[in-house]
Amino acid sequence: MSVENFAELVEINKKTIFHPASSISDVHNNGTTIFTGGQGAHIDTHNDGTFLDGMAGLWCTNIGYGRKEIGQTMLEAAETIGYSQTFVSTSNTPQIKLAEKLLELTKGVFSRVHFGSSGSDCNDTAYKLIRYYNNLRGKPNKKKIIARVNAYHGTTLAAASLTGIPSFHTAFDLPIEGILRAPKPHYYVDGKESETELAFTSRMMAEYETIIKDAGGAEYVAAFFAEPIYGAGGVITPPTGYFQALRKLCDKYDILLVADEVITGYGRTGEWFAHQTYDFVPDLMSSAKGITSGYFPLSALFIGPKMWDVLVEEADKAGSFFHGFTYGGHPTGCAVALTNLDIIERENLVSKVKEDGAYMHRELRNRLQGSQIIGEVRGIGLLAGLQLVKSQAPKLFFEREDKAAVLLSAAVKKNKVLLRGLPTADTVALSPSFIISKPEIDQMIDAIVNGVEQVENKLL
Ligand SMILES: Cc1ncc(COP(=O)(O)O)c(C=O)c1O
Repeated sequence: MSVENFAELVEINKKTIFHPASSISDVHNNGTTIFTGGQGAHIDTHNDGTFLDGMAGLWCTNIGYGRKEIGQTMLEAAETIGYSQTFVSTSNTPQIKLAEKLLELTKGVFSRVHFGSSGSDCNDTAYKLIRYYNNLRGKPNKKKIIARVNAYHGTTLAAASLTGIPSFHTAFDLPIEGILRAPKPHYYVDGKESETELAFTSRMMAEYETIIKDAGGAEYVAAFFAEPIYGAGGVITPPTGYFQALRKLCDKYDILLVADEVITGYGRTGEWFAHQTYDFVPDLMSSAKGITSGYFPLSALFIGPKMWDVLVEEADKAGSFFHGFTYGGHPTGCAVALTNLDIIERENLVSKVKEDGAYMHRELRNRLQGSQIIGEVRGIGLLAGLQLVKSQAPKLFFEREDKAAVLLSAAVKKNKVLLRGLPTADTVALSPSFIISKPEIDQMIDAIVNGVEQVENKLL
């Protein structure tokens, strides 16, 4: 397509599209970047050349861009059937095979999966199922849900309410009623001086327990939603013993523990799932993104035996389950997921993530050691967060107006690497495709080191 055509498309885009998570005036004044192609860890733009995508899109193109095998799968699925509904006890072959595969990858800790199209709808389904479950078992007051400060669970009504970032609430009359907000477990930022990480975990649990008691205890509190590692809220890794302690606390008050693995699922941490990395068993698990590496919109909610056994026992008394989506269990999406998981297995990408992730973290730590503004490099596998600070000792943070994380991601972008600035946590995130090579990891880190120098010169 010619350059003139792109200029025209940018104008049409301005007049036709209401962009998600964007500023209307920015689109109006500055136009849009049109992505035109992608291969491996690289993505092409219409006006600014090719970038090494250190974010795998929105934390999702885990097998990289431009996989022909996925295209073939899509074609075959479309030609074979194209679409099938899954309501009223109907099914399709890819959905069945995928469900079996998913229960196998999660090592038998879940009883069933329910398919949708996005991480948000997956969390909304979880939210509704929690109500359904407690209604069925005669606990109509048990409806309050705990979610954490800075959490990101999506943008539909329940998911946005669970999200703990105020900009997703203000102007939308959110959160909906019944959400209890718990502190974020970020030891580096919120740990007290001379408090050990374990003591910090205990303090978090004590604060959570107070929230539960203040809300009326087990009779009123239904569930606790947590990303095993925060994504958009700052790539915050759990402090020592966190999920073991949280599991115990939830059990004490008969609270369902929901792991939102929309980012961390399907290999990102160097295990298939982050609850395996952190050695705990959630009652429900939401997942999307990496299930198809973003090639098709698909989500899977995993339901554990605690809930499932009650549903089997009680649900028929209430009639059919009146929830579901036209595209739930889409045969093309499920076929794409099967091919995607097959590629991950065949190319040993989960162990590659572990190995190359360790390399990436080691290199980041070594190369950023001397920097004044990177206070913490955190994460695991091919997921990392760089915490910006004004000063390391004493530990001082930038003001919101300094926009340090956005400045750093912009400086890195000038070096042809895409990363994401997360302003709520003053953190820059890295989440590259699993197929990224070591030289590409080095290229990404070179771009960061250079960007950090530029931001230091600007802000210090
Ligand atoms: C942890 C987490 N949960 C849920 C979502 C929402 O997913 P979607 O954008 O597919 O609705 C996201 C998206 O980034 C996420 O990171």
